[in-house]
Amino acid sequence: MNKALETQKQDKAYDCWLAYRPLAEPDIGQYRSVCARVVVMGQSPVMDAAVDELKRGLKGILGIEPQIFPSASGAWALFMGPEQGHITLPEEDLEALTDDGFIIRSGQDGILIAGRKDRGVLYGAFAFLRLMQTGMSIDSLDRTENPAAGIRMVNHWDNMDGSIERGYAGRSIFFRDNGFIPDKGRVKDYARLLASVGINGVSINNVNVHKHETRLITKEFLPEVAALADIFRSYGIRLYLSINYSSPIELGGLDTADPLDEAVQDWWRQKAAEIYSYVPDLGGFLVKADSEFRPGPFTYGRNHAEGANMLAKALEPFGGIVIWRCFVYNCQQDWRDRQTDRANAAYDNFIPLDGKFMDNVVLQIKNGPMDFQVREPVSPLFGGLKRTNQVLEFQITQEYTGQQKHVCFLVPQWKEVLDFETWCEGPESTVKSLVCGRLYPQKHCGFAGVSNIGDNTNWTGHILAQANLYGYGRLTWNPDLSSEEIADEWVRLTFSDDPDVIETIGEILLKSWETYELYTSPLGIGWMVNPNHHYGPSVDGYEYSPWGTYHRADWLGIGVDRTVAGGTGFAGRYHKPNAEMYEDMDKCPEELLLFFHRVEYRHRLKSGKTLIQHIYDTHFEGVERVEEFRRKWLSLEGKIDRERFDAVLERLDIQVKDAREWRDVVNSYFYRKSGIPDEKGRKIY
Ligand code: GCU
Repeated sequence: MNKALETQKQDKAYDCWLAYRPLAEPDIGQYRSVCARVVVMGQSPVMDAAVDELKRGLKGILGIEPQIFPSASGAWALFMGPEQGHITLPEEDLEALTDDGFIIRSGQDGILIAGRKDRGVLYGAFAFLRLMQTGMSIDSLDRTENPAAGIRMVNHWDNMDGSIERGYAGRSIFFRDNGFIPDKGRVKDYARLLASVGINGVSINNVNVHKHETRLITKEFLPEVAALADIFRSYGIRLYLSINYSSPIELGGLDTADPLDEAVQDWWRQKAAEIYSYVPDLGGFLVKADSEFRPGPFTYGRNHAEGANMLAKALEPFGGIVIWRCFVYNCQQDWRDRQTDRANAAYDNFIPLDGKFMDNVVLQIKNGPMDFQVREPVSPLFGGLKRTNQVLEFQITQEYTGQQKHVCFLVPQWKEVLDFETWCEGPESTVKSLVCGRLYPQKHCGFAGVSNIGDNTNWTGHILAQANLYGYGRLTWNPDLSSEEIADEWVRLTFSDDPDVIETIGEILLKSWETYELYTSPLGIGWMVNPNHHYGPSVDGYEYSPWGTYHRADWLGIGVDRTVAGGTGFAGRYHKPNAEMYEDMDKCPEELLLFFHRVEYRHRLKSGKTLIQHIYDTHFEGVERVEEFRRKWLSLEGKIDRERFDAVLERLDIQVKDAREWRDVVNSYFYRKSGIPDEKGRKIY
């Protein structure tokens, strides 16, 4: 381990939710006797990781170093094993487990942590430690858990020069100076964090694959890719690579990347064989094609099914999959063009291809039709696609939600997406049931989240942003968990079981998304950010640009008419009754009003307030709430270690300042446009 990493590890924030803090003496009794002896059945790198973690956790939480036994002859207490061994576990119990599932059960002799496979045991070990750390009784444990979906992955937007596109927590932990970082200590700890919440896939490089990263699939870099894959593998995580669709040209010297060209197909077949000779269990490729100036099949007059299937054929013999992103739209629009609507683009590109993809292709769909705004409707591709494998993409990194300077706990937003009723098969057709493959048969499905970590000591820049990575993982395992449960668990694991700490931080987290929304762009319209870096307010920042991101504010009103009747028709891409709900201004959920409708400033909302007054009020309220977060945080002084207390306070100071800027810029803009003063006569510049 290098010196720098050693120093980082001293910092309390480094361990995140795996800090394994000692439990108070009276609570320990029940656990100590059970955990002194651990019997481990089976051996593999993943089992070794499970045992290591268990030892680490028991030492931290209970202060004991358990004796480890390789077989269950003699007395034993905690038992871990991928198979039932001599322990009687009814056949139907084991059958209820998928490959990643586990059983934790207390019996006469002790506690059993079992899985069909070693991965299940690893997840079971983490779950057991979580139970203990959160103070749950282990007397009569009986839990069987299976993850909700097969793909539970994080995407890194890391470049090989060490920069991270949309990264807010330092530099890459994988790459530096166009090569790999030799010290892998950080990667191993990252793998632990991911596995602890059930993540089983990681793509290590940016979806925008530039010159150097294109060469990740050559023998120059494949040995290093393999070394990373080894680390992740021992935590049950498969590695994926983002590839450049033009690789046959850039690496192979061909003059085309046309997916129907035989030489191109052959090139990819050979390339796949080469890659899998280094990493036999590579998950596959992640592909951003024909999007934001990236190459793709459109160049050759081919559609995306033809484009994706060609790669899928190459990966098929090795069990690899192609994860193909649906983020495809015209980014060279004229702002005067009111017919082209970026919101329609993914739907219109991919719906005609439903059923045409090979079964080792998965479409990766962003949660909303635009781009990870603080509020968007759910992408109508969910419920629209019926015969295609699907992965739901969330953005854990806070590009448009405060860039880890502002606290914005995204789990409540994600829950709304997961619970959204698409009505594609009548009631109970929620997004979560779709992406977990419960509605239509899918060979592969699940979740992807754009990672929010970097090489900052605390991983995520803002310590409270660790909760987003934690919450994302927990939801991919079990999308039925509530935001409250996740926040509560995270605070207990990360900080303490002091009721004040739990309540205060829980409250800040749970209100933070709504608060961020209050002082930024109103009622679903989105954007209003400074171009390029996307931090801070600029109401017209993207208004006259080619990116298809308009709010259309003038002196009378604001909003985009996306109705079928008179607008871009986006509302009609949903199933009934959603389509009717969005079409009708009176039925449209108010938080999305400006996304679907053009509304006059004097229009009265359900609250009885005019739209303009609503904009003023929410912006003042948003800032007041952030000031309240800061006061609440101050009340925790002495209850949290100094370093983390100060670090969060520093971020809250920034948030107070920058929320005021948002408030003032947005309010002045609309005052100036509308000429309507604030009823309450507050200061608007
Ligand atoms: C956003 C983001 C880009 C990113 C893109 C994507 O537009 O700003 O940096 O490349 O999403 O998801 O591909």
